[in-house]
Amino acid sequence: MVKQHSPIQKRWLLLLLATLSVSTAIAFIIRAAFDSSCDRPFDVMAEKRFRQGSPPPIGAAASSPLSFMKSKLVLLVSHELSLSGGPLLLMELAFLLRGVGAEVYWITNQKPLETDEVIYSLEHKMLDRGVQVFSAKGQEAIDTALRADLVVLNTAVAGKWLDAVLKENVPRVLPKVLWWIHEMRGHYFKMEYVKHLPLVAGAMIDSHVTAEYWKNRTQERLRVVGSVSHGPMVHKHEITFWIKMPKTYVVHLGNSKELMEVAEDSVAKRVLREHVRESLGVRNEDILFGVSRGKGQDLFLRSFYESLQLIQEKKLQVPSIHAVIVGSDMTVQTKFESEIRNFVLLKKIQNRVHFVNKTLTVSPYLAAIDVLVQNSQGRGECFGRITIEAMAFQLPVLGTAAGGTTEIVVNGSTGLLHLAGKEGVAPLAKNIVKLATHVERRLTMGKRGYERVKEIFLERHMAHRIAAVLKDVLQKAKNN
Ligand SMILES: *[C@@H]1O[C@H](CO)[C@@H](O)[C@H](O)[C@H]1NC(C)=O
Ligand SMILES: *[C@@H]1O[C@H](CO)[C@@H](O)[C@H](O)[C@H]1NC(C)=O
Ligand SMILES: *[C@@H]1O[C@H](CO)[C@@H](O)[C@H](O)[C@H]1NC(C)=O
Repeated sequence: MVKQHSPIQKRWLLLLLATLSVSTAIAFIIRAAFDSSCDRPFDVMAEKRFRQGSPPPIGAAASSPLSFMKSKLVLLVSHELSLSGGPLLLMELAFLLRGVGAEVYWITNQKPLETDEVIYSLEHKMLDRGVQVFSAKGQEAIDTALRADLVVLNTAVAGKWLDAVLKENVPRVLPKVLWWIHEMRGHYFKMEYVKHLPLVAGAMIDSHVTAEYWKNRTQERLRVVGSVSHGPMVHKHEITFWIKMPKTYVVHLGNSKELMEVAEDSVAKRVLREHVRESLGVRNEDILFGVSRGKGQDLFLRSFYESLQLIQEKKLQVPSIHAVIVGSDMTVQTKFESEIRNFVLLKKIQNRVHFVNKTLTVSPYLAAIDVLVQNSQGRGECFGRITIEAMAFQLPVLGTAAGGTTEIVVNGSTGLLHLAGKEGVAPLAKNIVKLATHVERRLTMGKRGYERVKEIFLERHMAHRIAAVLKDVLQKAKNN
């Protein structure tokens, strides 16, 4: 860094630095919300308001689709408090509700015994905004649940809280519970988590395919073997019964305002792009594919290697292509991690493939890459927020035709889909070559993705969708 940076640039440099450490990042996230140095006057007012923890002016609330939640008492039950997707989404909902003057209470069911820096910072961020945070286990939690107009359980695992804390009060609370589900993995289908599902007011799920999956699995999987004794004889019976899903609402997520702000700031994007590329040793003219966390990285690498071979065989004139794999965690030293790193060494592509540690803020990487690869395998992502975040950055998406990705990416228009599994390796390799060779196509897809985000995947769209659900649920709870 030799150049003098403007205040705006400084802010985004901070963001970049923030990716390096958790504590700095949280400090930054919190500060960013209050940093008025380069904000518009509106935000300066917001700052004062949040510091005092008082509700916003009436005018702001009235324009929100959630304004009918004013003065309503809402209890949010988070299974944990961390910087992962689920809790952060619930926090966003907390702030939306605070923004319209709802009385919002937050409890975290699973908390480590020792004080945790992340939890401490997040709780303070909430307290600053007037969200009341207290223990999940005490009488206050029970009383608040009984008084609440609405209780939101976040993720399937949060279901454990019901029996553990509410005990005999469970039936009184269930009719006002909205269960927000963000997962579709087999191990969530446990009776201890989901047995109350049929009696809650509603389930809110992030994608159609996940909603369908829950419907299927709750019908077919919850099989219980019981034994019945008749006198001295013990009969083992397989009793099959299923959990009937409550009324289910599909609510696609939206991008936060903070993310859109970076995505739409060309100066910020350029600064972040330059810095990240410099740190990776990738030149501005190289084409960089970003691969998000999770499984599928092994298959991606095979595709990537194949695409390099295709380019060589066909003697295609393309800029050199690179891949950055974000969120790999070598400290965990899993077999999977070692395997993918060995593959890179074996194929001698270590100067093309860059691994970076788990990071909180994805923005710098989204600013730095040219294409997002969403290669989730199996059933895919429940939704996959990174996909809409990348589209906000005008990036085309190469994704598996699985899970929420199919509801976000329009194949052939905002990206290209390939099949999950080994069958997808060759198609993905071809798609990588396609986007590397056709600059126009790549840019057009990115623009279309951005337009799609502006049409349906913004925070305010999500707020509208959630508002419709909450209205319904409140109505139901009242009639109960
Ligand atoms: C749900 O079950 C139906 C019928 O068996 C099947 O066609 C569909 O693929 C399943 N959907 C999911 C998401 O599992
Ligand atoms: C990633 O994490 C490892 C282990 O904590 C550390 O040694 C390494 O320096 C980190 N890399 C970067 C780029 O921060
Ligand atoms: C996506 O569209 C392309 C044509 O644009 C087609 O060849 C491909 O099979 C489609 N992928 C999926 C998974 O539907």
